[in-house]
Amino acid sequence: MIIVTGVTGKLGRVAVEDLLEHVPADQVAAVARDPRKAADLTGRGVDVRAGDYEDPESLRAAFAGADVVLLVSSPDTTPGTRPRQHGNAIDAARAVGVGRIVYTSAVGADDGPGFLADHTVTEGLLRDSGVPHTILRNTFYTEALVNPGLHAAVEAGELRGADGGVPVNFATIDDLGRAAAAALVGDGHVGQVYELRGPLWTVADLAQTLTEVSGRPVVYRAVPAADVGPIAFVHDLIASGLFSQPSGDLEKLLGRPPVGLRAAVEAVLRS
Ligand SMILES: NC(=O)c1ccc[n+]([C@@H]2O[C@H](COP(=O)([O-])OP(=O)(O)OC[C@H]3O[C@@H](n4cnc5c(N)ncnc54)[C@H](OP(=O)(O)O)[C@@H]3O)[C@@H](O)[C@H]2O)c1
Repeated sequence: MIIVTGVTGKLGRVAVEDLLEHVPADQVAAVARDPRKAADLTGRGVDVRAGDYEDPESLRAAFAGADVVLLVSSPDTTPGTRPRQHGNAIDAARAVGVGRIVYTSAVGADDGPGFLADHTVTEGLLRDSGVPHTILRNTFYTEALVNPGLHAAVEAGELRGADGGVPVNFATIDDLGRAAAAALVGDGHVGQVYELRGPLWTVADLAQTLTEVSGRPVVYRAVPAADVGPIAFVHDLIASGLFSQPSGDLEKLLGRPPVGLRAAVEAVLRS
């Protein structure tokens, strides 16, 4: 049995949908805090189980019979919360004899900035647990920069960046979710740390691609971080070089190149 957590969220949903393209539904179980939010999966033959990272007993029941569990990292970044929640999940998996845990960590979890510490701690908990595991070090989502907000940049003819011209290796939620599904099946994943990163591009490349796809000139303008709005922290992280290293692991898991900048921009401008 393959068990996927976080199925009411973006990445877990993609993973379970991808699995259902390759694996019979009766071999897949989905874990949700509120199973009613995943009722459509029940209708398609998936065993939807209640599980809350704050409730160890619910997790032991939810993980029973699992050959492999996709542990989608919690979105609750309140200090101390994710290590506790992920620890609960890992303890539950060990208690009920789960064969393997696949964990959605983050790029830089080994040597990155402090806000990644929850992932560093969770990777340590996994290593100490004795449960066979696979770590997916996900880069940031392409959607952080390539999203419907770009319509305004096309209108304005200008895209502001505080990225210092440093390239990013972002990947789409769809690609990262499908890669997670791929790491749940097949052999050779035990003990692997996959650095899941997309092709490199810069915010200036994004402006150029907007120009090409929209047919209207969009100029890149370098500004201080305070002038790029609420995603200033993303630009700061880009400028720090956190996302500037490429890796072939995402392509390896997908069995095809990850979605590139042009395809992502085309999809967003169509929306
Ligand atoms: N790589 C990136 O750029 C990036 C960006 C944002 C987040 N992340 C990380 O990657 C994870 C997955 O991303 P996403 O986009 O799928 O996030 P998302 O859409 O916010 O989904 C989070 C999932 O976690 C579930 N969850 C929250 N608290 C839980 C709990 N106490 N017990 C069990 N499940 C719980 C949510 O369930 P409910 O429906 O019950 O709330 C939801 O299914 C995030 O949680 C976060 O750790 C990565």
